[in-house]
Amino acid sequence: MNSIEERYRGASAKSAELGKQAERVMPGGDTRTTTFYRPYPLTLARGEGAFVWDIDGNRYIDLIGNYTSLVHGNAYPPIVEAVSKAIAGGSAWPARSEAQIELATLLCERVASVERVRFCNSGTEAGMLAAQVARRLTGRKLILMARYGYHGSYEDFEVGLAGQDGERTMLADFGEATAFDALLSERGSEIAAVFLEPVLGSAGVVEPPPGFLARVAEAAHRAGALFVLDEVITLRLNEGGAQKIYDVRPDLTMMGKIIGGGFPVGAIGGSEEVMSTFDPRNRGSLWHSGTFNGNPVTCAAGVVSVRELTQARIDKMNRQAQRLAEELARAARQAELPFSVRLAGSLMNIFFLSEPPAATIAREDARAIGNFHLAALNNGLFLAPRGLIALSTVTSDELLNEIIERAAKAIAEVAQTGD
Ligand SMILES: Cc1ncc(COP(=O)(O)O)c(C=O)c1O
Repeated sequence: MNSIEERYRGASAKSAELGKQAERVMPGGDTRTTTFYRPYPLTLARGEGAFVWDIDGNRYIDLIGNYTSLVHGNAYPPIVEAVSKAIAGGSAWPARSEAQIELATLLCERVASVERVRFCNSGTEAGMLAAQVARRLTGRKLILMARYGYHGSYEDFEVGLAGQDGERTMLADFGEATAFDALLSERGSEIAAVFLEPVLGSAGVVEPPPGFLARVAEAAHRAGALFVLDEVITLRLNEGGAQKIYDVRPDLTMMGKIIGGGFPVGAIGGSEEVMSTFDPRNRGSLWHSGTFNGNPVTCAAGVVSVRELTQARIDKMNRQAQRLAEELARAARQAELPFSVRLAGSLMNIFFLSEPPAATIAREDARAIGNFHLAALNNGLFLAPRGLIALSTVTSDELLNEIIERAAKAIAEVAQTGD
């Protein structure tokens, strides 16, 4: 055990104790693989604004916002107010609500390719639904997606993270339009849909090369397949989503995270024609149900979250992220550690490698990023164990200075362990 881990353990005795209790009732004491890390994850107790607190009373500046979903920070007062009002009137109803219509309207107004919306409860469900629509409309089975792409915790998509084709899933390298073209030419008659994240998230915040998304969309259409854009994390990049930035018009858009204002949510949207697959007035329409779909609490929170994510706020977050990335690189140079960062708007992934790797899940710098993650926690910064950072609209420039100072200390400590 190095000094970083010793300090981590020393500050989190209650988390360690609760970890043992958790292991007796949940496999590995965990219910969400992404958030697990060694020696044991913290138990959080509270969040407010740009901060979260653990059960031992330590305060952290929140740099991940529940994996990009809390774009306005924790317990954002306008969301708390809207949700409290909604919840006082009942948390779920067996019929639609005004809030549901309002959230769907906002999404249709903002995202150019979205004319109709269906809500579900997670990004994972949104992906499963999009696959169902594509299979229904084309009568085909196969999905084509990017190697190391992620569209949720569903077998047909999870093979993407493993980097190996699955029974019903084919993979091609993100950014290689010719590889997608070739598969769509050879196997197009079997492919129901091509799924792409506009910016790879889990694989390390990888932006697409110019024209890549539009070219794949075109090839998908030539093959009679649907083009599905997974905007679950990228809707935060522009008021119109990443599809506005990269100028591409998908048949279906997967949404989640920020559109629920911190509550469980998912949605798919698309043209009136494609989405009419769900219209229960049509004979043989696609069965899509869910006890909590579009529930009034999620929708009340989502309306505030989406409405208040203005372009001016997005631009401010992006400028702050740019500065943070530069300052982290400067601190690593001073500590004489190899370092690189991939940045897309307010999202970034850091690497203790002199060049950012190609899209990947396996980490060559596993030891250094593991040390940095614990050192960052020791210095009061909460980020994803894999080095993913997502800023929020409630990070002030003053707080950003503090983040930079704390991160520089953590980087220096990683250099000092020499391990
Ligand atoms: C691009 C992308 N798609 C889908 C999902 C799945 O969303 P959820 O975790 O809400 O099921 C995620 C989650 O991180 C994601 O990043």
